[in-house]
Amino acid sequence: MLLHIDSSADVTADSVTRRLTETFARTWRTRHGTADHRHRDLSADPVPPITPAYTTLGRRVEREGFAPPAKVPALIESDAEQYEWDLTLPLVTELLGADTVLLGVPMYNLSVPATLKAWIDRVTFPGALTDPDTGESLLRDTRVVVVMARGGGYGAGTPRAHLDFQTPYLKGYFGNLGVPPEHLHLVVAELTRVDVLPHLAGLEGLEAASLARARATLTALAAA
Ligand SMILES: Cc1cc2nc3c(=O)[nH]c(=O)nc-3n(C[C@H](O)[C@H](O)[C@H](O)COP(=O)(O)O)c2cc1C
Repeated sequence: MLLHIDSSADVTADSVTRRLTETFARTWRTRHGTADHRHRDLSADPVPPITPAYTTLGRRVEREGFAPPAKVPALIESDAEQYEWDLTLPLVTELLGADTVLLGVPMYNLSVPATLKAWIDRVTFPGALTDPDTGESLLRDTRVVVVMARGGGYGAGTPRAHLDFQTPYLKGYFGNLGVPPEHLHLVVAELTRVDVLPHLAGLEGLEAASLARARATLTALAAA
């Protein structure tokens, strides 16, 4: 199953990440068909931020030795905790059912959109992504393709390279979850605001090259 998640607040065809995730998904569907393509739009259908009941239930699950999802219902002590679990379990199940996770992630204020962070905080429920018998990550065989876009340029050696908190965050998050480096693909389109930001004038060629590179990489990854 391809789990395709978009997080740009821009739901129009102007969104670079949405256009690029669709490029990947289109190629993927030609090989695998449409039935196993699941699209989640975090802007149109936001995941609610976690609440005190989520953290209380999470702590109890941790105290029980990181009980797996099957054992969580027996640990629930209130309607509020049940509500949180009902919001969380379907997202966990959906993630664990994916062979490939495709994420569209704009850079917002040097990092990731809050809508994506809300999904991350919920889906990373204690014990939910770890094999209870072996302690191994349940995502060790999952391929993760992250499509990033940013208005400016943050490439290695450029003056703003140190301000890219998006790439190290996503690398760190998925690595920490147990996605092996060879299964994690970070693809970036830079300078997407070149048409409107005066200080980027003259960099149109770099923007076009960055977009073309991202498109080619995604098509190749989707066909692999
Ligand atoms: C709320 C917000 C914050 C942004 N912050 C940054 C930023 O910190 N650095 C940057 O280069 N571009 C920033 N941008 C520009 C976006 O990263 C850029 O427009 C990107 O293409 C958005 O992805 P999308 O085209 O898929 O919507 C921001 C845009 C928005 C709406």
